[in-house]
Amino acid sequence: MKDATRVTHAGLHPHANHGVVNPPVYHASTILSPTLRDMRDLDKVEDADDTTYGVHGTPGTFAFEQAVAELEGGFRTRLASTGLLACTAPLLCYLSAGDHLLMVDSCYGPTRRFCRKMLVRMGIETTFYDPLIGAGIAALMKPNTRVIFTESPGSLIFEVQDIPAIVAEARNHQDITVMCDNTWASPFYFKPLAHGVDVSIQAVTKYIGGHSDLVMGAVTTTEAAYPKLREGWKELGLHGSPDDTYLALRGLRTLGARMPLHMANGLKIAQWLAARPEVSAVLHPALPDAQGHEIWKRDFLGSSSLFGYILKPEFSSEQQLGLLHDDLEFFGMGASWGGFESLMKPVKIPNTVGYWPRPETPDGQLIRIHVGLEDPDDLIADLEAGFARMAH
Ligand SMILES: Cc1ncc(COP(=O)(O)O)c(C=O)c1O
Repeated sequence: MKDATRVTHAGLHPHANHGVVNPPVYHASTILSPTLRDMRDLDKVEDADDTTYGVHGTPGTFAFEQAVAELEGGFRTRLASTGLLACTAPLLCYLSAGDHLLMVDSCYGPTRRFCRKMLVRMGIETTFYDPLIGAGIAALMKPNTRVIFTESPGSLIFEVQDIPAIVAEARNHQDITVMCDNTWASPFYFKPLAHGVDVSIQAVTKYIGGHSDLVMGAVTTTEAAYPKLREGWKELGLHGSPDDTYLALRGLRTLGARMPLHMANGLKIAQWLAARPEVSAVLHPALPDAQGHEIWKRDFLGSSSLFGYILKPEFSSEQQLGLLHDDLEFFGMGASWGGFESLMKPVKIPNTVGYWPRPETPDGQLIRIHVGLEDPDDLIADLEAGFARMAH
């Protein structure tokens, strides 16, 4: 089955819902049992299979979990109330005091903050590694390394990681869990579990939701990795809200239609920007000079539409950035991405441990752009007008 078919049908059980195509929203805490024996038997129910208590899921959340698990090619998916929690909670599930974590240096900023603050308080040591390290990760492993966390491409500079090489090194050691924040590609364009990763993470908030109106995270694992996630989810009391899950499932159904359009529009804008005299570099994994481009070609099935570009220093003053951004008609300025609408905003590359020679950026600044589903010619006209304002 192709993914466009899978995304349309996975998790659908109309006959369990009076023939209704989409499972209705069940708002639930208490689940009643008809007899004492049924109530006692609830302890034996696997959480994601049937209702036991609202926290552990309802038919609507099970449908979404099943659909994501199928798309990711995993055993089970569990939900969390935000994408950030879907990054941080698995670390709590698989790490203990005294353990060592290898975290990619190009991770999403709040994931980094969690390692630097909460994990330190819990006695877990983090080493941040170069996203281009590949098999070189072996040199950083310690006897107490228990998790290697990847995010590919990385946040802000979009370096593509050699995940199969990292997994191969992890397999030389006992008991290392490899995780991947797979939000950029969505489960449509990259399959971490097929490349040997144990835990794949989605900020559902982005492309799966797709409409900028929900926040949610999803974590999918292999069968072998699932028990620790299941236990941790129970211990932490994690949960996906029924209303947001309903929206997320609606979003997921059109992922197969939206992603190719995001990819085409994103590439068109990236190529147009690369040819502009104001721009010194475009950071997009599908462009030939991107860091890790060959790995992207080898491992990914397509590209999403989130990337960066760097303005030449003579076009980078605060005043010029204001002239470029303030009157854009179609590009909004705001947090998050993955919705149907385009976004653009200046971001600062954090002062991290320092690895491969980074692109020269005026004052550490680049512009992050998310290309939506508008006609790309309108977006280009909008950007062209912005550059004209900046030049005058
Ligand atoms: C790569 C990546 N992972 C995770 C998240 C967190 O998602 P959420 O905003 O739902 O917490 C984000 C949010 O921007 C992200 O960019």
